[in-house]
Amino acid sequence: MNRALRIALAGLGTVGGGVAKAIVERKSELADRSGRAIELVAVSARDRRKKRAADLSGVRWVEDAGLLAKTDADVVVELIGGEDGLARAMVEAALKAGKHVVTGNKALLALHGAQLAMLAEEKGVALKFEAAVAGGIPIVKALRESLITYGVDAVRGILNGTCNYILTQMEATGRPFADVLKDAQRLGYAEADPELDVGGGDTAHKLALLSSLAFGTVPDTRHMTVEGIAHITPDDIRFAREFGFRIKLLGIARRTTQGIDQRVQPSMVRAGKPLADVDGPFNAVMADAGAAGHFFFEGRGAGEAPTTSAVIADLVDVARGNVGPAFGRPAHALAKLVPAEAGLASTAFYLRFEVLDVPGVLAEIAGHLAECRVSIESMIQRGRSPGEPVSIVMITHESQQASVERALKVIARSDKVKARPCMIPMEAA
Ligand SMILES: NC(=O)c1ccc[n+]([C@@H]2O[C@H](COP(=O)([O-])OP(=O)(O)OC[C@H]3O[C@@H](n4cnc5c(N)ncnc54)[C@H](OP(=O)(O)O)[C@@H]3O)[C@@H](O)[C@H]2O)c1
Repeated sequence: MNRALRIALAGLGTVGGGVAKAIVERKSELADRSGRAIELVAVSARDRRKKRAADLSGVRWVEDAGLLAKTDADVVVELIGGEDGLARAMVEAALKAGKHVVTGNKALLALHGAQLAMLAEEKGVALKFEAAVAGGIPIVKALRESLITYGVDAVRGILNGTCNYILTQMEATGRPFADVLKDAQRLGYAEADPELDVGGGDTAHKLALLSSLAFGTVPDTRHMTVEGIAHITPDDIRFAREFGFRIKLLGIARRTTQGIDQRVQPSMVRAGKPLADVDGPFNAVMADAGAAGHFFFEGRGAGEAPTTSAVIADLVDVARGNVGPAFGRPAHALAKLVPAEAGLASTAFYLRFEVLDVPGVLAEIAGHLAECRVSIESMIQRGRSPGEPVSIVMITHESQQASVERALKVIARSDKVKARPCMIPMEAA
């Protein structure tokens, strides 16, 4: 058998702990799969005294994770997290030292992926990140190595389990976002600071990586519309159901004639379509691979075992000598992303207005929409107790987003409209 592949592991938390355990406890299976042993030679975390999932008594402890690059490891596995600071420094140091790098760090790669891929290429080493997108779903490898013959026209995904859990619970219980978020935090489905998840930022990082793999562009979060789920109400979810839709936070990247359209936004997905049926903390990705057709991937997007499964798959790839370019094309060939102009996209929209129940309000709203060439396909109006605002909900015909936004800006200024109008695109897939 070939020489063992030596691993230095930074981070022994949820993912790192699982990876350490798998390397130690699944030795012979991994050797069979890799054609060589995979051996943990050094580890680093913050607190040496913390009890760990695996017995690491025979493994060298390195106090400063930055120094793992100086060990005799072949691969440095970064599972600390953070877009800059230690994680970035240690990944750069490892690549410069000619070591392969495996990471689950989407924030780091979304921001610095092109530069790190270039460095890996210069040194002839691998930079792998299957765990960074959609946990255990092998979507990075699928886009990097499998769905390549006909290109990819679009990827759409439910990429954040926290948001999907919250939306699913809001639908099941009829409770508002803030209450369900508190429960999710108590149950460990949401972080104490939930903004990166519920604000859409985490989905944006993952989408930037999918987009790069699909279209051969530099990962780019700057040219992306990003909207979270905090403004979605139980009413929106109920109305969506009446119209035959479910609300999902989608990351969408599409090739258009004007450029790449990247957006993270709550979307209406028609009930019965694959993405509509993805519930709770699950993730899913739909890839439109040209003549090869549509492919749908679903699975656990986070947690110890799914993420460990992804990291180990990368390690086995490296052990077998599969060390091709990080984003599937030579790093120097990744094109600068040319963004499609956001407002030009056309689709149908769900619109909700909270208005005073006074004569003329409906006509006023309809008038402003018509002035902006937005026509209405269907409408629901629901009364409440006297004196309280009522909801007017509309589904538009296919319209340009910029036109709808222009109309909503004017409508929002009316003294009969009591809150910022809610606008959710209807997703065709
Ligand atoms: N959790 C998931 O389901 C999941 C899914 C996909 C991707 N990821 C990504 O995987 C990475 C790790 O996530 P995680 O959930 O495993 O995080 P975690 O449970 O918080 O673990 C972080 C680990 O990093 C160590 N660490 C923190 N600061 C350090 C420092 N200055 N020096 C050395 N070690 C340090 C911690 O040490 P101590 O243990 O001593 O505190 C801990 O072992 C992140 O990039 C995350 O985005 C996570």
